[in-house]
Amino acid sequence: MNVGFIGLGRMGTGMAANLLKAGHQVAVYNRTPEKAAALIAQGAKAASRVADACRGEAVISMLANDDAVESVAFGKDGIVSSLPTGAIHVSSSTISVALSERLTEAHSKVGQCFVSAPVFGRPDAAAAAKLFVIAAGEPAAVAAATPIFESIGQKTFVLSNTPKAANLVKLSGNFLIASMIESLGEALALVGKGGVDPRQYLEMLTSSLFNVPIYKNYGGLIVGGTFEPAGFAAPLGQKDIRLTLAAAEELRVPMPLASLLRDRFLTLLAHGGDNLDWSAIGALAAKDAGA
Ligand SMILES: NC(=O)c1ccc[n+]([C@@H]2O[C@H](COP(=O)([O-])OP(=O)(O)OC[C@H]3O[C@@H](n4cnc5c(N)ncnc54)[C@H](OP(=O)(O)O)[C@@H]3O)[C@@H](O)[C@H]2O)c1
Repeated sequence: MNVGFIGLGRMGTGMAANLLKAGHQVAVYNRTPEKAAALIAQGAKAASRVADACRGEAVISMLANDDAVESVAFGKDGIVSSLPTGAIHVSSSTISVALSERLTEAHSKVGQCFVSAPVFGRPDAAAAAKLFVIAAGEPAAVAAATPIFESIGQKTFVLSNTPKAANLVKLSGNFLIASMIESLGEALALVGKGGVDPRQYLEMLTSSLFNVPIYKNYGGLIVGGTFEPAGFAAPLGQKDIRLTLAAAEELRVPMPLASLLRDRFLTLLAHGGDNLDWSAIGALAAKDAGA
C-alpha cells in the first residue's frame, strides 16, 4: 500500500519500520523531524508537513495523546483537510472515546474513512511486529486496512463497526494492567518487608498461578527497580487512567479501583516520575511501607 505514518515516538518508529519491511511505500512525518532520519535511510519518504503524509490510500497516526491527535487531525493542513476522498485514517494512539467519536464524524463528513486501531504491546513488541491490534470501523475500511495491521502485529481483533469501541477496549486493558502493577507492587512490598526474597517470590508466582507475560514482564521491572529508560512513560499511563475514568463517568460506571490508580499516578508524577516507566507505581507500596 501507499501510506503515510505520523508520530515516530517509541512505538511509531518500530511500526513504520515494519510497514517498510513488509514492502509498503511509507511517507513519514514527525513533529521533531530528526527522528525520521533512520526510517528515511531504510527507504521511507520524508514528509515535511502532515499534509505530505496524507497523499496515499491511508495514513496511520501514532501520537502521544488527545491534544497531539487533535492538532494533527484538525489543524490547518491536517489529516482531515488533506486526506483524499475514500482514504483511511488509521488511529493507533491511545485516545479518548470522545475524540474517537469526533474523528469518526469529521472524516465521514468529508468522505474519508476512520478506523480506530489501538494496540497492545510495548516498544519491543512494536519493533518485532508482535503487537495485538484492536480494530473497529466500517467493515470495508477495516478490510482495506488489514495489510497494515498484518505488517505491524501478530494478531488483529476486529471488535465493532463503531471505531470508539476499540478505544474503550484499549483503555479497559490498560486499566487492568495498571491494576495488576499496583496489586503486585503491594504484594511484593508485603512479602519483601516480611523477609521473603522478592525474586524468588516472583519466580514462584509466575511459575504457578500467574504464569502470564504481563506478570513476568512487569514483575521483573518492579523487582529490579528498572524504570528507566521508560518503555511506556508514566505521564501516558496517567493519561490512560484519566481517559478510563472519563469514559466511565460518561457511561455512569463507578470504577473505584481506577480512582485509586489515578492518585497513584499523581503521587508518582508529583515526586518527579515523568521520565519513569509507568510500572514505577509498583514501587510506591514498598516506599509507603518504609521498606
Ligand atoms: N509505549 C508503549 O508501551 C505504548 C503501548 C501501546 C500504546 N501506546 C500509546 O501509543 C501512543 C504513542 O506512545 P509512545 O510511547 O510512542 O509515545 P512517545 O514515545 O512519547 O511518542 C509520542 C509521539 O507523539 C508526538 N507528539 C506529541 N505531542 C505532539 C503534538 N502536540 N503535535 C504533534 N506530535 C506530537 C511526538 O513527537 P515528537 O517526537 O516531536 O515529540 C512523538 O512522535 C500513545 O497514545 C500511547 O499511550 C504506547
